Amino acid sequence: MLRPFDIRKSTAHKRLLDLASSVGALHLCDLFAQDSGRLRRMSGTLDGMYMDWSKHRVNGEVMEALFDLAKEADWAGGVKDLYAGKHINQTEDRAVLHMALRGAPGDEFSVNGNSVMGEVLATRKKMLAYADAVRSNPDIKDVINIGIGGSDLGPLMVTKALRNHSKGGPQLHFVSNVDGAHIESVLDGLNPASTLFIVVSKTFTTQETMANADAAKAWIESASLPVSDHFAAVSTNMDAAVDFGVKAEHVFGFQDWVGGRYSLWGPVGLSIACFAGSSAFTEFLAGARAMDCHFAEAPARENLPLISGLLGVWYREYLGFNTHVVLPYAQDLDRLPAYLQQADMESNGKYIGRDGQPVKHRTGPVVWGEAGTNGQHAFYQLLHQGTDIHPADIIAIEEPLSAYAEHHTKLLANAVAQAEALMCGRCEDDVREEMRAAGKSNSEIDAIAPHRVFGGNRPSTFILLDALNPKNVGQLIALYEHKIFIQGLLWNVCSYDQWGVELGKVLANDILAGWTEEGFSKLHDASTEFLIQRLKN
Ligand code: F6P
Repeated sequence: MLRPFDIRKSTAHKRLLDLASSVGALHLCDLFAQDSGRLRRMSGTLDGMYMDWSKHRVNGEVMEALFDLAKEADWAGGVKDLYAGKHINQTEDRAVLHMALRGAPGDEFSVNGNSVMGEVLATRKKMLAYADAVRSNPDIKDVINIGIGGSDLGPLMVTKALRNHSKGGPQLHFVSNVDGAHIESVLDGLNPASTLFIVVSKTFTTQETMANADAAKAWIESASLPVSDHFAAVSTNMDAAVDFGVKAEHVFGFQDWVGGRYSLWGPVGLSIACFAGSSAFTEFLAGARAMDCHFAEAPARENLPLISGLLGVWYREYLGFNTHVVLPYAQDLDRLPAYLQQADMESNGKYIGRDGQPVKHRTGPVVWGEAGTNGQHAFYQLLHQGTDIHPADIIAIEEPLSAYAEHHTKLLANAVAQAEALMCGRCEDDVREEMRAAGKSNSEIDAIAPHRVFGGNRPSTFILLDALNPKNVGQLIALYEHKIFIQGLLWNVCSYDQWGVELGKVLANDILAGWTEEGFSKLHDASTEFLIQRLKN
């Protein structure tokens, strides 16, 4: 269990409040002008990843106060407890050890005193052998991952990210929504004889996943094909998967110390391995493991997940910014924001503290985003001139991701330009000068110039990967996972449960039962009752 921590009772808190009104009010361009060593001190590299946090509204003093805050929260002790398999998922009384899933032979991870690495490596070997067999089976052309949330978003995001690494693997598809349109549109045009389904569900009870798995089974059966030849499954509930009709040797298990939204490193990543092959999957794990080692060993001032987490706490608690926007300048990373929405918001979107009391401070931000440059033509207006400030992660890839080299140059130019525009904005003098040069009258200039001024001072982290390869993708995701851990630690929430999604599931099942069977087990309010009756009829 991680001990409770009250950010507002910390010694660093008062200092940070003062710094928020002094340094927090300075303009980023002035911070750069005052300090020629700023970029050198506020950037770092880990293998193929370069991270530049110099465009944040902090200076050395703020960073030191944030490091002190982290020290008061005993971040290093928290990391030790995490890696030691302590039951830091306190409300479910479970360890949190997704790092073990990407562990290498020789690494030691234990739960309740028992090493888990033997089982992890054996399952990995079995799963990767199966994935390679699927890849080399000419009869399997399409693989459909059926799952939702953590059993969908990670595999979907990573297979998209590794588009260039499939090298002859099957076509991958994903079905998640209980809206029948999803499975219908995916199955459209596919041949049951050459399709393999992977049903991924930690619990093997999730309504959406089971509805889609049943529909897939019916589709196979209606083609008079044996279900067991067309299904594999991933679950902690292996018996339920076998009962469903999957051959026992094609059911890949994992343990309850892996949270759904942190599970893509093990069997939940089977579809990634089928798509990209065992070597790519192994590199993916190695990249994440490199970030694990960095997080556990790097000193605070060089520790990239710690620094990312602290910057987010600074903005949420001290500057009052409500959201965090993720802007990958890579079409192949276009599902990263959706993936991070679950990873971050399901983890830290909580108001009860680890002591069971409501917290008095802000916790997780709204996470959102879109691939660049598409987002530029949608919501960047608000990023640049809206009344709220949205700290951004701008992610770019050095190596071109397509044969269209000139596209890539344009893409990168946009990424860099946006980071600069967010920071520097555009002053009124420049706008007026430009309008004068364009021959505008003084009255036109007076009327229009204010609308064309950008205040700037909008912070961003620039993350540059040398290539979008499996290792870097693994490293990037692990960076975010550890950032979320740090923020949860400081915000005093239980980052590894998700009770907030349970009520909706229970009510949906209750409404469904009342709808299709005898009646309702509870009274509904007038509005809900009307909707039910109208839809029922
Ligand atoms: O949305 C809630 C949730 O419990 C997620 O945490 C999880 O990733 C998802 O549902 C799917 O659950 P399962 O893998 O058990 O089907």
